[in-house]
Amino acid sequence: MSRIVYVNGEFVPEEEAKISVFDRGFLFADGVYEVTSVLDGRLVDNGAHLARLQRSLDELRMASPLPMAEIEAAQLEVVRRNNLVEGALYLQVSRGAADRDFAFPKDAKPSLVMFTQAKNLSANPAAEKGWSVITIEDIRWKRRDIKTVQLLAPSLAKQSALDAGADDAWLIEDGYVTEGTSNNAWIVKGGMLITRPTSNAILHGITRRAVMRLAEEDGIGLEERFFTAEEAKAADEAFVTSATSFVMPVVRIDDAQIGNGNPGAVTMRLRELYFEEANGRKG
Ligand code: PDD
Repeated sequence: MSRIVYVNGEFVPEEEAKISVFDRGFLFADGVYEVTSVLDGRLVDNGAHLARLQRSLDELRMASPLPMAEIEAAQLEVVRRNNLVEGALYLQVSRGAADRDFAFPKDAKPSLVMFTQAKNLSANPAAEKGWSVITIEDIRWKRRDIKTVQLLAPSLAKQSALDAGADDAWLIEDGYVTEGTSNNAWIVKGGMLITRPTSNAILHGITRRAVMRLAEEDGIGLEERFFTAEEAKAADEAFVTSATSFVMPVVRIDDAQIGNGNPGAVTMRLRELYFEEANGRKG
């Protein structure tokens, strides 16, 4: 069954969804995006995703194609028209179509595209087993806090991980873990959560922020600080967070087994807390 895709104000079958070859998202990766998870047909933590979208647009001096409230109305309509119960809603804004020139175009209209992806998020079998990750040099640009569609470096890292028989890669800069290819990285040592502080070096994850709050409410301690791959390999537990993986255990880093090689107790507790909250408080 063909999906209904949103393109610049229209809801069209995916085969008919078209963007210009002059679109700056295509020519310059001059675009930003958000991925919001959908559970029970409802958007999870979408207000926070739209706030981050606004921040990404501001940082790139890009106009919003619509007021945020209208973007949200369109998001809900895409979910509804596709009868999406569980999965993800992808949204992308680019600076629009204009003849190729490095300078910003004067009168281009930003483009807005949205589509759904059905996925099994709550009963994801990968969460029972946990992920293996490899470590790889972080070759991305220096503004990773902006959620741009410039995703070639993480795509290369993800493919290297799959080629090595792993599930994902943790990116290393100056000896420290920055984040996963499309998720934030965490370790647990002595019952304490450790994750890198936010800066321009990582994406300020919406799931990361929710998990921090849930941990605090549950009395789980947190240290926001840098950690190395070596420290991670000696941790009791490891996991990643993102809108599509929620809290995903990591049970192997390169050749090192983490803990007893099974998803850790603190990790699974946080995963459970995340679902409890997502089921009760959506939108
Ligand atoms: N990725 N770090 C990076 C580099 C990411 O691309 C993502 C999200 C995250 C987690 O952010 P959040 O919790 O807000 O999803 C961290 C999305 C899911 C993606 O590209 O598909």
